[in-house]
Amino acid sequence: MTAATDDVLVDVQGVKVHFPIKKGVIFDRTIGYVYAVDGVDLQIRRGETYGLVGESGCGKSTLGRAILNLEPPTEGKVVFDGTDIASLSGETLRTKRKDIQMVFQDPLSSLDPRQSVESLLLEGMKAHGLVKDAKAANARLRELLKAVGLPAAALRKYPHEFSGGQRQRIGIARALSVDPKLIVADEPVSALDVSVQAQVINLLEDLQEKFGLTYLVVAHDLAVVRHISDRVGVMYLGALVEEAAADDLYAAPLHPYTRALMSAVPVPDPLVEDRRERILLTGDLPSPANPPKGCRFHTRCPWRQPTRCDTERPQLRVVEIDGVPATHRVACHFAEAIALGELGEHEVEAVAVDPTAGESDDFGSFGGPAAIGEVTDI
Ligand SMILES: Nc1ncnc2c1ncn2[C@@H]1O[C@H](COP(=O)(O)OP(=O)(O)OP(=O)(O)O)[C@@H](O)[C@H]1O
Ligand code: SF4
Ligand SMILES: [Mg+2]
Repeated sequence: MTAATDDVLVDVQGVKVHFPIKKGVIFDRTIGYVYAVDGVDLQIRRGETYGLVGESGCGKSTLGRAILNLEPPTEGKVVFDGTDIASLSGETLRTKRKDIQMVFQDPLSSLDPRQSVESLLLEGMKAHGLVKDAKAANARLRELLKAVGLPAAALRKYPHEFSGGQRQRIGIARALSVDPKLIVADEPVSALDVSVQAQVINLLEDLQEKFGLTYLVVAHDLAVVRHISDRVGVMYLGALVEEAAADDLYAAPLHPYTRALMSAVPVPDPLVEDRRERILLTGDLPSPANPPKGCRFHTRCPWRQPTRCDTERPQLRVVEIDGVPATHRVACHFAEAIALGELGEHEVEAVAVDPTAGESDDFGSFGGPAAIGEVTDI
């Protein structure tokens, strides 16, 4: 799907990022690929927060890096603010990069411990020619610290002198220092205490309003994503399996994977909580080096149907269910029948398998950690 309107800031079109798996000491032989991101289309509108969720290893960070062109796509393209990022080089790429900043999970490892906060914040501003004179720079530094709720005295201190939450505020101030349009926040609160998480999330929301920012927030915690996001995309093994407005997704998750993820999280709305189903997601995520054929979720899906689920990869599509808007898309052949209760669940049991077994006999230890075998009929 191509973005047709000006309100789209980021347009990810059919992006794939495949990492080659090499073998051999003298001659590097490519023996396979890690299909980290394997065909993602998504748009992020100006001023919105897009939340990306999924289990560890499903490709969330790789997709974030592809948007920054830190990981050039194997296929597809990313159009940022009307320009194909891959078509840029030199000064124009540098200028565009300023518009996209990252906030990382662990601020301690992303902030140089030898630099004071002042020097950390000035670094990007200088690199992009945003420091006109000392007085203006000083005023800007104070403004940045105030925006993230830190005192001006913080300027002379070093990262290790701060708590985790304060360090994340410095990381956010650094991202803001170059006046970006998009902030990609990769697990921005995962390393923080729960009480501090809420403060940082609230800060991100305040800053969005104040500076008109657009966010891509990557997290495995559904509660975090729900709180902050306008829209949510659920990723499984390198692809989006569901996308909807946050409220729609949480009120009526349609994909079996989303339903399983959601069923593990208590919902604040008591009515929804009462109706909440519990689906146990059995088994590990299959290896992205050897993803299942057909629907990638079929090895863990309690609604798997013969034989379509095993052979035909479902595309993200609008479903025909009363009350479900066209903005709610899902990649499941049987989403309607599952939502209407026409298909029964069946048990799925994890069984250990030979990790070297699979489509390729040359993957060695790159095979999946476990696969799932069904124990009951459908
Ligand atoms: N540079 C790389 N070379 C080879 N494989 C990679 C590389 N970067 C990531 N991968 C693999 O790609 C897959 C997706 O990784 P990614 O870091 O994007 O997942 P993630 O969803 O961000 O996980 P997490 O929640 O643990 O951060 C993983 O199997 C990972 O091992
Ligand atoms: S397509 Fe089949 S295996 Fe995949 S989620 Fe839907 S029912 Fe499950
Ligand atoms: Mg990650």
